[in-house]
Amino acid sequence: MKPVPSLDPLPEGLISLADHEALARTRLDENAWAYFSGGAADEITLRANRQAWNELMLHPRVLRPLSGGHTRVELLGRTLAHPVMLAPVAFQRMAHPDGELACAYAAAALGAGLVLSTQASTPLETVADAVRDDPGRGPLWFQLYLQPDRGFNRELIRRAEDAGYEALVLTVDAPSSGARDRERRAGFRLPPGISAVNLQGLRPPALGTLAPGQSAMFDSLLRHAPTWADVEWLLGATRLPVLLKGVLHEADARQAAALGVAGLIVSNHGGRTLDTAPATAWALPRIADAVGEALPLLVDGGIRRGTDVLKAVALGARAVLVGRPCVYALANAGTRGVAHVLRLLCDELEIAMALTGCATLAEATADLIFTRAPLR
Ligand code: FNR
Ligand code: LAC
Repeated sequence: MKPVPSLDPLPEGLISLADHEALARTRLDENAWAYFSGGAADEITLRANRQAWNELMLHPRVLRPLSGGHTRVELLGRTLAHPVMLAPVAFQRMAHPDGELACAYAAAALGAGLVLSTQASTPLETVADAVRDDPGRGPLWFQLYLQPDRGFNRELIRRAEDAGYEALVLTVDAPSSGARDRERRAGFRLPPGISAVNLQGLRPPALGTLAPGQSAMFDSLLRHAPTWADVEWLLGATRLPVLLKGVLHEADARQAAALGVAGLIVSNHGGRTLDTAPATAWALPRIADAVGEALPLLVDGGIRRGTDVLKAVALGARAVLVGRPCVYALANAGTRGVAHVLRLLCDELEIAMALTGCATLAEATADLIFTRAPLR
């Protein structure tokens, strides 16, 4: 029998994603809050992601025909009901006992795409089995952190393929964890019973002994960090389309396009890896200029409103991913909470489209973003 997520009631007074965040702050313990909400170092990028969407102003058009409009988009050969997907977020059972499963059910119910993390706290097969046959679900993708052991990677990829995942998302912006000051201050540790179950059986790589003058970082930890050669290897090792997640530089975007990846996710890992990396709303248009014709682009980081989704599409994204808000909603009300957050974003997107005069997302182009004329 399929596992069924518990249907928690939706607490009253939740009108926006910010409301979900404020409530989750009171429900999660300090340990989980530090992990889920924190960014790297001074959290400059974490804040910049939000500020950048806020500072873009929409330049609305009026009196355009809106009847028959819709939020549908085409992505990797599929038509999606709307452009909102769930970003891969590790260890979701720390937010709610139903964890990744609750997110998967909510995503399927709302037709949203789901990207399951390599570091999920639920087996990848359990998640896929729960939603794979739901005709209304969105895309089901698996996020990959390559491990030093090639054999283990092959096995993980094969498991994802067999379970029915439709694309692999290789995360490339985290060869090392960021400087997680907030986690260190909170003394973050995984609670008992929560682990990266899909990496079970992985033997930690031998770190070896360092010769005098060698660096623990470069001569040990990073010896197996993925490179472009591994992207080529991955493209040959799977029958699934491969997207790269965590690209911010247009030169990397061009290199990825030349190698034949299926798409790019413009991301700074929600400000959790390199602090002072640019806000994704700033990087996206540059990458769209470089490869937007050749590759579908997705973006994440600080998307909290339907207007943010519309701005992302106007700047060249085909779809967006949402990370923390789904975890907060999960903590507040399990499946129902996550479904609520997705509903809010989709409803707000429709309102934003109506009020800017866009009947379809194809009409959301760069001129929807207001640019200030020089003051005379
Ligand atoms: C993440 N993110 C992430 N990315 C990834 O590729 N694999 C992972 O396992 C995780 N884990 C993870 C845990 C937590 C707690 C967070 C907050 C984020 C990054 C995630 O996919 C996404 O890029 C950002 O979360 C997007 O930013 P917002 O929406 O959280 O602002
Ligand atoms: C994180 C890792 C798991 O951001 O990607 O916590």
